[in-house]
Amino acid sequence: MKKIFGILIGCTFLFSVSSVGAQQAGKAIVERECGKCHGLSKVTKANKDDAAWEKTLDRMIKKGANVAPGEKDAALKYLRTLNR
Ligand code: HEC
Repeated sequence: MKKIFGILIGCTFLFSVSSVGAQQAGKAIVERECGKCHGLSKVTKANKDDAAWEKTLDRMIKKGANVAPGEKDAALKYLRTLNR
C-alpha cells in the first residue's frame, strides 16, 4: 500500500514538474517570437480561450513568427495560462 502511494505521489510530482517546465519553455518562446512585430502586451492582454489561442498561434506563424512545430505545444501551454 505504501509503495503504491509512493508511486502515485512520484507520478504526480513528475507530471507537475514537466508541465511547469513546458510552460516555462513556452514563455521563453513567446518572449522570443511574439514581441517582434507588436508588443508582448498584445499577447498578454488578449482575451482568448484554448481554441482561439491555437488559431492565433497558427495565424502568427503564417505571418512570420518563428515557432518550430516542436515548440507549438509548449507555446500553447504558456499562452493558455493567460486565459481569462
Ligand atoms: C511577423 C509579425 C508577427 C509576429 C512574429 C507575431 N505577430 Fe501577432 N500580430 C501581427 C500583426 C500584423 C497583427 C495585427 C493584425 C492581425 O490581427 O492580423 C497581430 C495581432 C496579434 C494579436 C491580436 C489579434 C488577435 O488575433 O487577437 C494577438 C493576440 C497576437 N498577434 C499574438 C501573437 C503571438 C502569440 C505571437 C507569437 C507566437 C505573435 N503574435 C507573433 C504580427 C505578428
